[in-house]
Formats: sequence, structure tokens, C-alpha cells
Amino acid sequence: MCGIVGYVGGQCALDVVLAGLRRLEYRGYDSAGVAVLADGGLASAKKAGKLANLEKELADRPLPSGPTAIGHTRWATHGGPTDANAHPHLDNPGRVAVVHNGIIENFAALRAELAERGHALGSETDTEVVAHLLSEAFSSCGDLAEAMRQVCRRLQGAFTLVAVHADEPDVVVGARRNSPLVVGVGDGENFLASDVAAFIAHTREAIELGQDQVVELRRDGVTVTGFDGAPADDVRTYHVDWDASAAEKGGYDYFMLKEIAEQPKAVADTLLGRIDAAGSLTLDEVRIPDSVLREVDKVVIVACGTAYHAGLIAKYAIEHWTRIPCETELASEFRYRDPILDQRTLVVAISQSGETMDTLMALRHAREQGAKVLAICNTNGSTIPRESDAVLYTHAGPEVAVASTKAFLTQLVACYLVALYLGQVRGTKWGDEVRGVVRELSVIGAQVEEVLATMEPVRELARSLADKNTVLFLGRHVGYPVALEGALKLKELAYMHAEGFAAGELKHGPIALIEKDVPVVVVVPSPRGRSVLHDKIVSNIQEIRARGARTIVIAERGDEAVRPYADHLVEVPATPVLLQPLVATVPLQVFACELATARGNEVDQPRNLAKSVTVE
Ligand code: F6R
Repeated sequence: MCGIVGYVGGQCALDVVLAGLRRLEYRGYDSAGVAVLADGGLASAKKAGKLANLEKELADRPLPSGPTAIGHTRWATHGGPTDANAHPHLDNPGRVAVVHNGIIENFAALRAELAERGHALGSETDTEVVAHLLSEAFSSCGDLAEAMRQVCRRLQGAFTLVAVHADEPDVVVGARRNSPLVVGVGDGENFLASDVAAFIAHTREAIELGQDQVVELRRDGVTVTGFDGAPADDVRTYHVDWDASAAEKGGYDYFMLKEIAEQPKAVADTLLGRIDAAGSLTLDEVRIPDSVLREVDKVVIVACGTAYHAGLIAKYAIEHWTRIPCETELASEFRYRDPILDQRTLVVAISQSGETMDTLMALRHAREQGAKVLAICNTNGSTIPRESDAVLYTHAGPEVAVASTKAFLTQLVACYLVALYLGQVRGTKWGDEVRGVVRELSVIGAQVEEVLATMEPVRELARSLADKNTVLFLGRHVGYPVALEGALKLKELAYMHAEGFAAGELKHGPIALIEKDVPVVVVVPSPRGRSVLHDKIVSNIQEIRARGARTIVIAERGDEAVRPYADHLVEVPATPVLLQPLVATVPLQVFACELATARGNEVDQPRNLAKSVTVE
């Protein structure tokens, strides 16, 4: 949610910042802007719409070249996506420029105060007040980092701020509270960004900024302090374990297509190093002692969107394999209902970005109540794992497309590992049972590969449905969250009315939506193992077909019982019932991606969305 880049060094700062913004555009694409320090002054440009609009503006009216620049790509919160509301925001003399991600909750009071002192504010944003406050503070202290600390102490809410001042031409200052900001450490140059992807082409050495810290960047050094001015004692540099090519499209038309194709590897990478030679689980990263895990009497999973769907599936595995009651809850609802938590509750927070504000607030609430928090996360060093008791990283690599695909599959793998590990530690699963599931998991990558190789009919079907208004999704057991995920993908990418239902709920209302030719995707559980489930869903397919629905059935290869009722049959390899989501979700991702393309939508950057939702 909003991408921020700052640079100081020997290269053309504007070029570095624009390249960084291109990599961060997934975070927001309502408007973009840059500010450059050059020739003793500050020059800036900003434009509503995608980054391409700003690039055109810069081609028509170039800015001077200089060693220091900042940039921003916006997902609008306060004020619509207009040129005036785009960042950077400047003070009245045009000496300070600031970019911001987050929400400044007390901006109205600050704005009124500034207006009384004669400041003229021209935008509807909460950000602009910061430029004016920084300007005032700098006039009295003459030091941008100190001015930033003074201003941050007055702000309420969540924010990442990055600023430059024309009187300090070789300095970029950043600050963060509850919103991401990473330092890229180069040789004679340094970077600031919302995400390492912005500077990975230049350096793979990064510093995580802590909560309520201010960073001053010069060519030859980085200084980190708290908002109170005390030097930070927890500055830690880490090496980013992927390179620039991982954040490129690599020949695919869209990042989403590339990320769908990367799923077999992402699944395999997430298992890597977590299974020993004997086939047992070794989750060394889970630093919560076994003695504590043995005492856990409730698991609560908190997450949003696609990650929430992974959590819904995890509930089935956790309860089945460990016999511990498990609830999965939308992170945005969690803390407001006063949940019952104590030292024996294990909260699992699932997040690809590690920055989702709703999930972060939920885990903070859980920890305040004494619960232990285990994060499942894809982004090294992000806030959610930093604030959790332990983390299990998914190794999906950078996910750039706004619609989550490979992160989802790896979240599922991580959830299965957590469930098995709990079973192993608590003795509800025998060693050979754990090894059996682990063996099944280790062939999933190859099975996903098989699914991917058979997707042309699904793409063809998607294209044929491009003019439909509604697609419904049904599932039972773990197929129900898969149905929800299929519907979410279609909503966000194809902008169609798409809804997922538990198939058993059909007769309690949703069946009224069925009319002639409405496409209904049905996720059918394996006929092996849970035959009751299978029989029930076959009846559901017959019920909707009798009312005219066009049935698109996702079923295990060799499931002949569904064939007569499937207008379109999508076969997936046989897996254990609980693991089926790992293969059944893939056709739904391909379906949504192709339908969106057929409807002329922007697959990687769907309207109104942003990849990382850092506001509540
Ligand atoms: C949908 C999607 C979102 C995210 C959700 C949580 O395709 O990507 O629903 O899953 O915003 O994001 P993370 O996992 O970063 O917390």
C-alpha cells in the first residue's frame, strides 16, 4: 500500500528512484511522483494514474539531475487519485519534500493548527501536514533528521515517511511506525524503500528498521535513532537471498502467470530443510519450546483474504491431526470481538507480505493477552515475523502480482507442517504417520506441475465465459475454502460477481441464484477415504444441473462418478483428502487469470487494489 523509494549516491538519483518505483508499482498505482535535490534547490513532478503517466511528464518536462531523490507510488486513502493529492508534498517555500505510506490519524487537528499559523495547504491528503511541520521544525533546528524526530513525536497513526530538504542536499531521512521501510546498504550510495525489490538490482545488503525509528541516509553512512534521538542498538544488516531476476517477469506476459508457473518450485522450496534424512519434521525456526506447544489447548489462526483461506484449510488439518480445537478468524474482526485468549492459546498469523495491518494488530492483541504467536510469512524481516514469538518462512520468493498465487500454496504447505509438528510434539501423530504425510507433501510439487501442463482447456473455457456476469463456486470440507479462494480470484481479477459457498448450504438459500447457464465451479473431494463427502457433493451437482447450471467440475483423475454430471471436467492428480487444495486451487488461478485477460483487465494490477494493505 503505497511504494516509497529514496536514494543518495553517485548515480543519477532520479533514474534509480524511477526504476525502484517500477518495481514497487504493485503496492499502489493511483498516482506517482518524485522529488530531486539539484543545483541548491528542489524540483518535483507528480501525476495521477500509473507510473507511465509520470514518466511521460518527465520526458516532456525533464527534471535536473542530482545525487539525491525520493519517489512514491500511491494507493489513495485521504483524497482521490488526483495530481494535487499525489506525493511528494512540499512546504510553502518548496524546500522540503515528503512521501508517505500509512494514515496520520490526527492530521485534521495538525492541519487546523498549521492554517492558523498561516500555512497554505493545497491537497486533501493527511501527508501534506508533515511537509509543513518538517519545514517549521527544520527552520528552528537546521537538521532534517532532528526535524523528523520532532514531527514524528507529534503524529498519531501508522506511517512511513521519507523526506529531503534543499538545505541538506546529500541527505535523505526516513521514519517508520507500523508501516514498512527498509534500508539498502550500498558502496558509496544508500537506498530507502518500502520493499527490498526497489533496490535489489543495486545491493542485496539490507537493514530492517525497527518500530519508531528515524534513519538518516548519506552516501557514506546510515544513522538510525529512535524518535527520542537515542541511537538505535538493534540495527541488523541481512543479506537478501534472491536477486533482481526473481523480481522480473522472465518472459511471461504477467507476473501472475510467472508466479503460477513457479508454484512447483515454491512448494518444494518451502519443504526444503524441514524434513530430515529419516523423513521426520525438523522445524528449528519454531522457537516456541515443545513444553509450551504441549500445553496449547486452542489454536487461533488470523489472516486476511487469500491468507485467510489458507487458514480455513489449516483448521481441518490441525483439528484432524492434533485434536486441538482450532478457529480461523479474519484478522480485521479478531480484536474487536474481545476474543478469549490466554497463555495456552497458540495464535498463527499468516501473511505473505508480513505487513498487513489488520493481521499485525490482531497478533499484537493476542500477545497482550499472553498468547504465543507463530507467524507464517513470505517476507524476511517484515513486521509480522519480527513481532511474533516465532516464524516459519514460506519460500515462495517475491510475489509481485497483486493476486496471491504461489504464496497461497506455500502458506498451505507451512500450515500442514505446523499441524504435523504439533501432532509430532504432542504425540497425536506417530512418527510413521508424520513421515507418510511428509512423503505425500514432497510429491505435491510434481503434481502441481502436472496440473499446469493440462490447463489449456481451462483457459479455453475461461475465454468462452468472458461475457458472463456471475460465476458460483461450491465445495465441501477443505474444498469449501478452495471455492472461496476461486471466487476471490475471479472477483479481484475479472471484476465479476463470484461467490463461494459450502455445498451443503446450497439448499439454505444460494440455490435460488441458479438459473439457466450460470457457470458453477464445483470442487469435488476425493472419492477415496471420505466417500460420504464425495457422494453428497455429487448429489449437489445433480441438484444444480437440474436447475440449468453449467457445471465445471474439478475432480480427482479417475473419478468416473462425476463425469456424467460435468459439463466441463477438470481432472487433478489424486492426493490425500486434506492435501487436495494444493492441486485443486491451481486451475482456479489459471481460470481467473485467463478470464481477466479475456475481459481486457490488468492482471497484475487490478483496479482499486494494492498488494500490501498497510492500513486498517
Ligand atoms: C488476494 C490477496 C489478498 C491477500 C491479503 C493478505 O489475491 O492477495 O487477499 O491475501 O491482502 O495479504 P498478506 O498475505 O500479505 O497479509
